[in-house]
Amino acid sequence: MKIKTIYVCSSCNEQTTKWTGKCMRCGAWDSLIEDAVDSESHKLIETKSIEVRKVSLEDSFSKRITSGIEEFDRVLGGGIVGDGLLLLTGDPGIGKSTLSLQVSLEMAKSGKKVLYVSGEESVDQISMRARRIFKQEIPESFSLVNAHHLESVVATIKKHKPDLVIADSVQTLSSEKVSGMPGSIVQTRHIAEVFMDVAKRDGIPVILIGHVTKDGGLAGPKVLEHLVDTVLFFEGDRYQNLRMLRALKNRFGSTNEVGIFSMKEEGLVEVKNPSEIFLKGRKSGAIGSALSVTLEGTRPFVLEIQALTNSADYSYPKRAASGMDGNRVQLLTAVLNKHAKLKMDQQDVYVNVAGGFRVRDPAVDLALVAAIISSRNDSPLPEQVALIGEVGLSAEVRPVSHEEKRLKELAKLGFKEVWGNIEKKIDGLMVKKVTDIHDLMKLLK
Ligand code: TYD
Ligand code: MG
Repeated sequence: MKIKTIYVCSSCNEQTTKWTGKCMRCGAWDSLIEDAVDSESHKLIETKSIEVRKVSLEDSFSKRITSGIEEFDRVLGGGIVGDGLLLLTGDPGIGKSTLSLQVSLEMAKSGKKVLYVSGEESVDQISMRARRIFKQEIPESFSLVNAHHLESVVATIKKHKPDLVIADSVQTLSSEKVSGMPGSIVQTRHIAEVFMDVAKRDGIPVILIGHVTKDGGLAGPKVLEHLVDTVLFFEGDRYQNLRMLRALKNRFGSTNEVGIFSMKEEGLVEVKNPSEIFLKGRKSGAIGSALSVTLEGTRPFVLEIQALTNSADYSYPKRAASGMDGNRVQLLTAVLNKHAKLKMDQQDVYVNVAGGFRVRDPAVDLALVAAIISSRNDSPLPEQVALIGEVGLSAEVRPVSHEEKRLKELAKLGFKEVWGNIEKKIDGLMVKKVTDIHDLMKLLK
């Protein structure tokens, strides 16, 4: 393999060997990005046919290894696949190293050989952390190295033959085979390709850790996301304890599941019953507060949506959202202004999802609308009521997916009443039909 540096225009894909300020083909300025190609690869011409394999279901299932951390395994679709390359990303300080250390220790405890390669922290630092969070004897099969040089890391893997490798992080590793600083596109892509080879050829799963940049993208634009099998995103508010693990891409399972953790003194603790955490500390009879049930993957849980309306200081009122899409708040406020004859054009609207959770499910629309109305009218919603429904632009309330699952969660938590465009019935839970915003206004009178 002979790696050569080239420059690719990010607008027209033109390739050149020299960097220029302007693309010679499409004329775009400052659009050339450094990249690397294998200049000999075109010489490899496959003449022999390739052996065709039949798919065996058993094979692919038995190859998964579970970490024993349920919230982590679930997001992956039942554990790490035997030859998978996983990318774990998230903001600096969110807990990526902590999570992968905990996964490593649990795996090592069950007898798997784990190699944790860190270019970020010293062996002493990580050992101290491991002792603090694990509280048991550190398993023999857990090994730790501090390294920056990719080729030495690969040599160590070949010699040590672990069952799992953690590489923390891609930004601190570099290869002597390609040019560029650690963290550059060329380096990042090469490192990912080398680890892909380790995963596929040697059958050793690798978790590669990568930070995201300030604008939320992965360092090493998209290159990594395309290459790896699975992209896990660890998120949460750094100043709150709640952390969520989601799969943004998963070649081995769905991308719907969310793993919920709480960052404590003793490391990450799994949150097995999210509804309880989200409802903890909730004041009864609070103005501008409404409850809903969201569904993440296969799991329903109850959330509190809070809204605050306040007369605007300027002629252009503010709408701010934390924990949900700001555009949704703008849109639903406009729906209220127009269809509910609730004057909102001189009102600031602030919305918050309690507990630091980020919700993407449109089923919480109705609760959001009810919370805004409650704040605007200075009147609380009735206790023990949850609202489920997506609200459309003509103020209609639409039914939501997985109605039964959501209702069952409410019944389990002792709710007595649910409002929404709901068909299903469940023992002990009264349904009040809300087919549009006018129905909701009537119920709130
Ligand atoms: P870390 O895993 O180092 O983040 P990342 O690898 O994503 O950059 O976690 C960093 C934060 O987590 C740090 O600010 C302290 C906090 N933390 C705890 O609160 N409790 C703990 O037991 C650990 C290990 C970390
Ligand atoms: Mg780290």
